[in-house]
Amino acid sequence: MAAPERLSLCPSANLVEGGPGLRFEVAGQAAFAVRYQGTVRAYLNACRHIPVELDLSDGRFFDLSGHYLVCSMHGALYAADTGVCVSGPCRGARLMPVGVTEEDGSVWLPVPAGN
Ligand code: FES
Repeated sequence: MAAPERLSLCPSANLVEGGPGLRFEVAGQAAFAVRYQGTVRAYLNACRHIPVELDLSDGRFFDLSGHYLVCSMHGALYAADTGVCVSGPCRGARLMPVGVTEEDGSVWLPVPAGN
């Protein structure tokens, strides 16, 4: 039996616009996915100031405006669509994107060949 080429992370309906994020791991690293402007966006869950998890484990990534991902430690704000830090101690740095896809009613994580 062939190994799967992708893993289902969650049903699409679980990611609500501006709502809580989905926490998951990719290659042993913490990552998260949120829905913003209708599209699922996923990044490694590591602030670019100090590599702590942005949400400090509670799954809330958006600020009150619903447009920015906020680091709970010192308040860095990242544009949800690009991952670029627009305010805070790591201004100009960028969250590392994770290439997820959305298809057939699910959010998918590609599995590298050989795994
Ligand atoms: S650790 Fe995220 S802003 Fe300092």
